[in-house]
Amino acid sequence: MYRVGLTGGIASGKSTVGQLFAQQGIAIIDADVIAREIVLPGQKAYEAIVLHFGDTVLEKNGHVDRAKLKNIVFKNEVERWWLEALLHPLIRQKMIEKTLEAKSPYCIEVIPLLIETFPYPELNRILVIDVDVDTQIKRLKERDHLDDRIIHSILDAQVSRAERLANADDVLKNEGDLNALAEAVKKLHVNYLRYSRAC
Ligand SMILES: Nc1ncnc2c1ncn2[C@@H]1O[C@H](COP(=O)(O)OP(=O)(O)O)[C@@H](O)[C@H]1O
Ligand SMILES: [Mg+2]
Repeated sequence: MYRVGLTGGIASGKSTVGQLFAQQGIAIIDADVIAREIVLPGQKAYEAIVLHFGDTVLEKNGHVDRAKLKNIVFKNEVERWWLEALLHPLIRQKMIEKTLEAKSPYCIEVIPLLIETFPYPELNRILVIDVDVDTQIKRLKERDHLDDRIIHSILDAQVSRAERLANADDVLKNEGDLNALAEAVKKLHVNYLRYSRAC
């Protein structure tokens, strides 16, 4: 299986781009989706989170309140490290399982913290979505309604745009509209089909 790792800062457009590749029939394995699955009641990470943070991180229905958790860990670095140490190995394991089941000519693995959690020897190629910081913050505010302090601590916790670009095999600029993005994805798709046939 030819594997393309897709990364970019928060709200750069990773999930959107993933959907566009899915429209081309490509299997998308999204670390964020897996991160949501493994904290569901009964799943591996759930009990550890409740034991560590207490019932206050739960919603009334018993599910982990992810917004609350995000607020805690982005105000406290040690808590963030704790949560990452719990979740990352579990996410990685599930991603490997899902790529083995994938049936398309290549697959896209959406990994938000790909550069932060280098190396990924199993990936054939790295696609970075690049967006200027103002557009990123604007889209993030519209999507998540976070306050400025949380936004800045999230951005500070991520690698710089330059560092991401330095590790990219391909760069997808996402500063235009969704049509422009879809066209750019189609071009990349043609290349990836070619690379996957050659390997
Ligand atoms: N080219 C674009 N034009 C307008 N809105 C966009 C564009 N790309 C992404 N968005 C919007 O920006 C937000 C962040 O995109 P998303 O794909 O969720 O980012 P990520 O998965 O990287 O966090 C979403 O609300 C999405 O609909
Ligand atoms: Mg996303």
